[in-house]
Amino acid sequence: MKVVAFNGSARKDGNTAILVRQVFAELEKEGIETELVQLAGQTMRGCTACAQCYKKKNGRCVIENDIVNECIERMAAADGIILASPTYFADVTTEIKALIDRAGFVARANDDMLKRKVGAAVVAVRRAGAIHVFDSLNHFFLIGQMIVPGSSYWNVGVGRAAGEVEQDEEGLATMTTLGRNMAWLLKKTRDQI
Ligand SMILES: Cc1cc2nc3c(=O)[nH]c(=O)nc-3n(C[C@H](O)[C@H](O)[C@H](O)COP(=O)(O)O)c2cc1C
Repeated sequence: MKVVAFNGSARKDGNTAILVRQVFAELEKEGIETELVQLAGQTMRGCTACAQCYKKKNGRCVIENDIVNECIERMAAADGIILASPTYFADVTTEIKALIDRAGFVARANDDMLKRKVGAAVVAVRRAGAIHVFDSLNHFFLIGQMIVPGSSYWNVGVGRAAGEVEQDEEGLATMTTLGRNMAWLLKKTRDQI
């Protein structure tokens, strides 16, 4: 089994990545393979509403000059998907929004091709807006017929400078519980599909 995570932060290996790795630690303890795709430095445009994905139905976006199709392939190959974003102006980053819109439209155009995979959101925040980010990320999973495990709190870690989230004990504990619940759910559901 495999879980792929996409870190939408413009800062590679910052707080969002630390939170994702906290989830990964629990998945790996259960023998689940993990992969972190960091979108920092990538140029990713949004959906052009060309609807070619509905015409072609080949599981791809027609825009081929960025990383999005590679991300869609990785999503299709994984059993679980984590979308992770820091909070930027109380919202997701541009890069993760481009991925949500284009991968989400492709998935819908292809008979909800990600359905029944396990999905989870991870959010880093300095002070405010994280719940909006959490909601935006979860919209991707819930409209795509994916299954979302909960945790002991909403999946948010608090920190500003890179690494500061390590001091948010409750945030880290939330990620640990999320990882355990994700592993549990993957094991319960994968052999049923
Ligand atoms: C452009 C920009 C906008 C931000 N907007 C917010 C915000 O609305 N609320 C907040 O609490 N923090 C905000 N922050 C702070 C980040 O969410 C915070 O530093 C987070 O830990 C960064 O995660 P990272 O290290 O993975 O990039 C913003 C940071 C940037 C660069």
